[in-house]
Amino acid sequence: MTIERFPNDFLWGTATAAHQVEGGNHGNDWWSWESQPGRIKNNDRSDPACDHYNRYRDDFRLLAGLHQNAHRFSLEWSRIEPRPGEFSAEAIAHYRDVLEALRAVGLEPVVTLHHFTNPTWVAQAGGWDAPETAERFARYVDRVMLELGTLANYWVTINEPTVVAYQGYVHGEWPPGRRELGAAARVLVNLLRGHWLAYERIKSHRPETRVGLAHHLRVFDAARSWAPQDRLVAAAFERVFNETMLRSLREGRLAFPLTRAGKASGPHQSQDFIGLNYYTRELVKFNHRYRAELFGQRVLKEHVLRSDLDWEVYPDGLYRTLIRLQRERLPVLVLENGIADRGDQLRPAFITRHARAMLRALGAGVPLKGYFHWTCFDNFEWAEGYSAQFGLAANDLVTQERSLRPSARVFAEICRTGLVPVSAEPPPEPAGRTEAGPPDLR
Ligand code: FCB
Repeated sequence: MTIERFPNDFLWGTATAAHQVEGGNHGNDWWSWESQPGRIKNNDRSDPACDHYNRYRDDFRLLAGLHQNAHRFSLEWSRIEPRPGEFSAEAIAHYRDVLEALRAVGLEPVVTLHHFTNPTWVAQAGGWDAPETAERFARYVDRVMLELGTLANYWVTINEPTVVAYQGYVHGEWPPGRRELGAAARVLVNLLRGHWLAYERIKSHRPETRVGLAHHLRVFDAARSWAPQDRLVAAAFERVFNETMLRSLREGRLAFPLTRAGKASGPHQSQDFIGLNYYTRELVKFNHRYRAELFGQRVLKEHVLRSDLDWEVYPDGLYRTLIRLQRERLPVLVLENGIADRGDQLRPAFITRHARAMLRALGAGVPLKGYFHWTCFDNFEWAEGYSAQFGLAANDLVTQERSLRPSARVFAEICRTGLVPVSAEPPPEPAGRTEAGPPDLR
């Protein structure tokens, strides 16, 4: 069936994460990581970011004016629980205001409980490599639900567990900067346990609320489709990064290779929707030197459009991923999708092409319920600092002025009409095929 218009009740919005936009988050592991020279591009710091902690009302008005009807953001655990078991009434009151401000302008909140950052005291106690962190997380979630539970209908427990494990414990580019596969597997197990416990706590407060987890799913294709060793590597990546988490959640118990890292089980049903973060595809080639990275070397294809971070623009991958997710038999929310494109040259067509991929998926019967573009304003892009610009609007760090890019209008029209404009797409740039380092899975 061909579908040309998105359903009227489709959720349209943008997504952010507290540490990337708020400014002033000094009580978590990222803030200390940033203080080490060389960790972040240009030694950028996450303060002031977008000063969104103070400017959220104006920001939400701007987004509502762009015909968005929903917004995804995260709560900063280190603000809410600055010391073990001590909860800040001030931070909780702040987030209550944030949630009320969203509703007041007609934006349906989608709240993430953990988006990469850990309170310093959690990190010092071993972070997600310590099994107790799952229980600590659940205690925080419990408190959040008690205080704010009635103010949102969509909750995302944890953002991108595989990225947390890979970037922090395999690649070592994010805190705590370790390179140890065993630790990465333990971290994934503990994140899964954290999700399971959080799901139960949320449901015990509000059985009718919808809970999910944000999965970063990438398409992994063999760099040389004829080479069996590349196909094997691509299949291994698909299995480890995309499938293990989904399968563990589907079955309520750890799926291989996590079975080798510990024992844990959870409720059979612990997702009411699948949260999908989709950005790009990765072409992988076998290289015996990349042992710690499952022998996968990233290859950049020629004659394709690439973002400022060299991520391939590959809208078909969104379609393929959505089709693949049909087997989960759950509604799907695209919780992130976007492009680092400082000049906004590719973003307008990026948005329309991904929207068309979603229409195709809807036509094929995928129960897709919403789309959140990453992101509204250029913000603190983790190890890339402010250099990677993903915003529909640019942000001036000094004046904190948001300036809409042309793509913001393109997106606004889609949100307003549910229709995707036919747009001229820029010709592919001739880019040479290059061999890059290990996959940068984020
Ligand atoms: C995702 C993260 C998000 C942002 C985008 C570009 O992996 O969830 O915080 O960094 O990538």
